[in-house]
Amino acid sequence: MFYCCPEIGCNNATLLEDATGLHCPNGHLFPYAQGTKVPVFASESENVNEYTSENAAEIHDNSLRWLFDTFETDEPSLRKTLIAKLDLRKGMKILVTGAGAGNDLSYLVESMAGEGVIFAQDISKQMLLVGAERSYAELHDSGVEFFFSVSDATNLPFLDNIFDAAYHFGGLNLFPDIQKGIAEMNRVVKFGGKIVVGDEGVAPWLKQTEYGQMLIKNNPLCAYDAPLSLLPESAKSVKLSWELDYYFYVIEFTVSNSAPRINIDIPHVGKRGGSIRTRYFGQMEGIDPTLRDKLYTEAEKQGISRVAYLESLLKKGIS
Ligand SMILES: C[S@@+](CC[C@H](N)C(=O)[O-])C[C@H]1O[C@@H](n2cnc3c(N)ncnc32)[C@H](O)[C@@H]1O
Repeated sequence: MFYCCPEIGCNNATLLEDATGLHCPNGHLFPYAQGTKVPVFASESENVNEYTSENAAEIHDNSLRWLFDTFETDEPSLRKTLIAKLDLRKGMKILVTGAGAGNDLSYLVESMAGEGVIFAQDISKQMLLVGAERSYAELHDSGVEFFFSVSDATNLPFLDNIFDAAYHFGGLNLFPDIQKGIAEMNRVVKFGGKIVVGDEGVAPWLKQTEYGQMLIKNNPLCAYDAPLSLLPESAKSVKLSWELDYYFYVIEFTVSNSAPRINIDIPHVGKRGGSIRTRYFGQMEGIDPTLRDKLYTEAEKQGISRVAYLESLLKKGIS
């Protein structure tokens, strides 16, 4: 059981399964969608969007056709290019967020050499159930096991560090909290695993051109920036690129358990002196600027850095 309770206060409690759905020890029930084994974690009424209408999958198919015709490319090439960034291998266990009608699943299966486990989630029951149906029909003997859930990508019902990789294509700009959506993918992927996310967002140098303005008028989501500033502090090997003529940004990074670490005590040689530690943590109150200038002149006369001279004065004064 890789699912856990996403409700606040349940601390990712593991769930028990019965014929009706998944149960948490604190009484939360996540029922299976009618006639399926797909647990529903997210409330539909709270998450109404363009993908929750009855014929959402059909509308999405049409918009994908428009997309690939407009950018004069084909769906398999684009999807394979993006999925290649995940460095998938046979037998991996991976997560797809905002999986929609499952258009990526066959390419993911191919990249896993027909062996592994795919968890696909989407907040829209309409989209996800079409995805589940299509994959049962087309991929049931692919060698890869599938688990579908209706859930919110910004509050995933999965235990920490259980996936080898996570993937998201299209939909990130719609998340109520993009940073939380990325943080959730980061939480559930093992250290060393890769995350790839992409969505509409015209490259910054094209936004003000006629090309960029046409695309933004056509779809305001294209005005979004690639959310680099929303990556976790521990993200490693970060890469940003664009696909479809700079229409879609793609961010890839490796999950790690450590923020950048440096030696902050290496002294600077030169007029100012000090180190990263003294310059950042040793900030003091403002002093009389004339006194400050005198201190600078005196330090220069003595041939020592400003920090070294100031520290020597303080030490003498305080002792
Ligand atoms: C443009 S579609 C992309 C579908 C699919 N990834 C593809 O490439 O065809 C965006 C999807 O993101 C889903 N989505 C939007 N907000 C979501 C959220 N908070 N959690 C999970 N899925 C979400 C929508 O329901 C929709 O299916």
